[in-house]
Amino acid sequence: MAGRVAGKKVFITGAAQGLGAAMARGLAAEGAKVALADINFVGVEKLAQELNSSYGANTAFAYELDVTDEGQWIAALEAANTALGGISGLVNNAGISSREGGIEELSLDGFRRLMSVNVDSVFLGAKHGIKYLAKNQPGSIVNISSIAGLIANHTSPGYNASKAAVWLLSKNIALYCAKKGLDVRSNSIHPTFIDTPILDPIRNMFGKDEAEAKLGRQVPLGRIGKPEEIAAAAIYLLSDESRFVTGAELKVDGGISAM
Ligand SMILES: NC(=O)c1ccc[n+]([C@@H]2O[C@H](COP(=O)([O-])OP(=O)(O)OC[C@H]3O[C@@H](n4cnc5c(N)ncnc54)[C@H](O)[C@@H]3O)[C@@H](O)[C@H]2O)c1
Repeated sequence: MAGRVAGKKVFITGAAQGLGAAMARGLAAEGAKVALADINFVGVEKLAQELNSSYGANTAFAYELDVTDEGQWIAALEAANTALGGISGLVNNAGISSREGGIEELSLDGFRRLMSVNVDSVFLGAKHGIKYLAKNQPGSIVNISSIAGLIANHTSPGYNASKAAVWLLSKNIALYCAKKGLDVRSNSIHPTFIDTPILDPIRNMFGKDEAEAKLGRQVPLGRIGKPEEIAAAAIYLLSDESRFVTGAELKVDGGISAM
């Protein structure tokens, strides 16, 4: 049986672990070929080997990419385009959070770093990726924002601002592509707390069980999310099931934003 994304060729950033790795596994299981890009090259190489042994040679390719570096983006996209035989999907997932403190504590360097990794990445990925997607229509761009891009808190000024920027940049890209007459969609996903290493600082502070219980109590469904639950949303947005969905935000947050 053909998978839901059979024939799709998807470039994923931050694919060495966490949500990026879960999306790569889910996409490969549903028939896509994947280019795995990360600053952690050893991590993406290992995952590429895993996927190639599970789903056949040339299912996955690994690239070293710092998403803040324009030259590295240009080189990685070109290499992936050759290896995959085109690129029809782009997942801008790489991102960082930090224990920033409030606006009076966060340094300007810290703020710029968050904006650079979380926002420059999406700008550069779309700026240099659209031309490949245009040659492989229908194309789809999925940007991983956060529920923290829609709802603020008092301690994460850089994370809040950067993820809000990803939200509206996704819509800008959607309208740009539509205006150009391209069948290239752009949407954002907004997860709440998901079980990945990004939560480790909180786990280290309170211990794993207490940290996850504390976070889970903030979510109407009563728990933190699983990486596969974000992968499911990404697979939908990268598949032809969402052919008429662009400029949308998909909240995968256990109901937190409904409050
Ligand atoms: N897990 C959550 O609770 C959660 C919630 C909302 C949004 N998000 C977002 O989801 C995305 C993935 O998060 P995660 O939980 O998997 O985090 P993670 O820390 O487990 O993984 C992030 C990956 O990005 C890579 N990365 C970091 N900086 C990079 C750079 N400059 N260039 C290339 N790769 C880089 C890391 O090496 C790592 O493999 C992030 O954008 C994050 O903000 C996560």
